[in-house]
Amino acid sequence: MSDFVIECHNLETAYAASLNRPILNGINCQIKRGEFVVLLGLNGAGKSTLLRSLVGLVPTVRGEIQINGVPITPRTLPKIRRDVGMLFQGGGLIRQLSALENVLCGRLGMRTTWQTLLGFPKSDRLLALDLLEKLGLRQLADQKTSQLSGGQQQRVAIARALIQSPQILLADEPITGLDVVASQQVMETLSELHTQQGMTIVAVLHDLGIAAKYAQRAIVLDAGRVVYEGLCDNLQTQFAKVYS
Ligand SMILES: Nc1ncnc2c1ncn2[C@@H]1O[C@H](COP(=O)(O)OP(=O)(O)OP(=O)(O)O)[C@@H](O)[C@H]1O
Ligand SMILES: [Mg+2]
Repeated sequence: MSDFVIECHNLETAYAASLNRPILNGINCQIKRGEFVVLLGLNGAGKSTLLRSLVGLVPTVRGEIQINGVPITPRTLPKIRRDVGMLFQGGGLIRQLSALENVLCGRLGMRTTWQTLLGFPKSDRLLALDLLEKLGLRQLADQKTSQLSGGQQQRVAIARALIQSPQILLADEPITGLDVVASQQVMETLSELHTQQGMTIVAVLHDLGIAAKYAQRAIVLDAGRVVYEGLCDNLQTQFAKVYS
């Protein structure tokens, strides 16, 4: 089996009139099993679009994405979505549901409608509570997420992504808007998943210092293309080169 868990070959999305080009404009990149990769780039570079395309949320017009060596197609997508957890930019939680209910929503893809009609099985509830406990949120399980702080919401979103035990976690700006302490907690959580469980992590960040501290490798996007792929040494210099 290929060493790569994520591969994009000449990935191109639909033409965007506002940009005069496709949003993703010929992306090539490869990510190895167990890597912690940071995805960098200015606002509008295409980072979120790339992450969303890895879980089949963006139609592609050219090129191919392979997850664990399997091309994304309508037929392979359900299985791929179970292997790939996603943290959306801004959390994407349902505000009027409790922390526990939001985490359980992460389980919907693995249960039939019939199974969830009668409520989630007890085993799922225990798993969700266990995850909330690990993320330091056990006592807030029944709180509506609209009443949680930004950092707490981000950790609920992490628990929701983890409840399906993904091999790969895609995190779109997991620490944007969080204070120093909450940012560090979230980054440490991702780092532990990487080191202790060997999870492959791809995180969009804007802070080059934090990127270099946690990630092994960086991919920098600009105008829908990869402009740097390599170690996190001298990210400042790499950035200066790209954007000078
Ligand atoms: N559905 C869409 N239709 C048309 N244009 C879009 C669509 N989604 C995104 N775009 C445009 O594509 C570009 C890339 O957007 P994307 O959200 O991927 O950027 P990003 O790198 O995540 O930026 P940020 O750092 O601000 O989150 C932007 O110029 C955006 O306006
Ligand atoms: Mg984005």
